[in-house]
Amino acid sequence: METETLLKVEDLRVEYPGTGWRSAPFRAVDGVSFEIRRGETVGLVGESGSGKSTIGRAVLGLLEPAGGRIEFGGHDVTHRDRATQRQVSRRLQAIFQDPYSSLNPARTVGRTMVEPLEVQGGAARAGAVEKVASLLADVGLPEDSTDRYPPSFSGGQRQRIAIARSLSISPQLIICDEAVSALDLVTRAQVLNLLGDLQRERGFAYLFIAHDLPIVTYVSQRTVVLYRGRIMEQGPARAVHESPLHPYTQMLLAAVPVPDPAVQRVRRARRRATAVSTGTAAQPPAEGCPFAPRCPKVMSRCWTQRPEAVPVGEQVVECHLFGPSNRPAWVPSPVVRP
Ligand SMILES: Nc1ncnc2c1ncn2[C@@H]1O[C@H](COP(=O)(O)OP(=O)(O)OP(=O)(O)O)[C@@H](O)[C@H]1O
Ligand SMILES: [Mg+2]
Repeated sequence: METETLLKVEDLRVEYPGTGWRSAPFRAVDGVSFEIRRGETVGLVGESGSGKSTIGRAVLGLLEPAGGRIEFGGHDVTHRDRATQRQVSRRLQAIFQDPYSSLNPARTVGRTMVEPLEVQGGAARAGAVEKVASLLADVGLPEDSTDRYPPSFSGGQRQRIAIARSLSISPQLIICDEAVSALDLVTRAQVLNLLGDLQRERGFAYLFIAHDLPIVTYVSQRTVVLYRGRIMEQGPARAVHESPLHPYTQMLLAAVPVPDPAVQRVRRARRRATAVSTGTAAQPPAEGCPFAPRCPKVMSRCWTQRPEAVPVGEQVVECHLFGPSNRPAWVPSPVVRP
């Protein structure tokens, strides 16, 4: 069924051990909940260090969550034993920013690609060589690619190899972590188109991680906005882009360069005016909203109370500006004329 939930992340918490002597663990992901339906692209966007890759790694089973729940294909996979991880990894793949680091430079592309098929054994193993050739053709790589080594390919071509390799096991979900961020604009557009075409043909879902909101909006049906390990806002990609509710999403959009220098000047001035102490002194409150120290609309309760997730239209926002009544708290009441 097209709308069936494929991945369900509920109240996910992930911690890294503290670095200093007796220092407390660092909570990189703090109570994150979202879903991905079959065949859907969900974009995960936020500044550097907001916890995007950590969420990706937890979903991939590379990190043990400190709390919450991860459900994949209807099964609880929060804490995976080896057998579960093996099963899940057949349906879950990842493409990273730098495919070069995940491709063995001393191994031909053909060899690298055949490996996951051989591990599966049986029918996959028998037709492995033919399958690799057809996958490489599917991602638009030259016929002789199987005999060549990764260093002889361009960045865009290496990303195509990574895509072809992730397809070899017929995944249901591919996590693209900054998969196109290192590519030049033309190559980026080509790889994005390829990702879109493959999804239409094969029906898998993407978790598309990036720090660039326009790109995320372009490729996704729904967008999740993350800040310091917490979700600020999520909803249909167009709605989040065209009518962002959370001051943080609005700030992310204001940071996107626009071609018109006059508009850009106004935005820059506005940004300077609203850049409330963004230095290291601006520590987010232990309770409350992590964006409080930077928020131009901050209120006293933002420092002490964690905002609840409030539905506003099709969007869900975690911000005290939005009351529980589905109506922005700051909308002025209608003027009563005599
Ligand atoms: N192995 C680790 N040990 C300790 N802290 C870590 C580790 N990996 C990440 N962190 C911290 O966790 C937070 C989230 O990191 P993460 O890599 O998930 O961010 P990100 O949103 O993917 O950032 P970027 O856009 O730069 O890739 C950051 O503050 C980071 O410093
Ligand atoms: Mg990252």
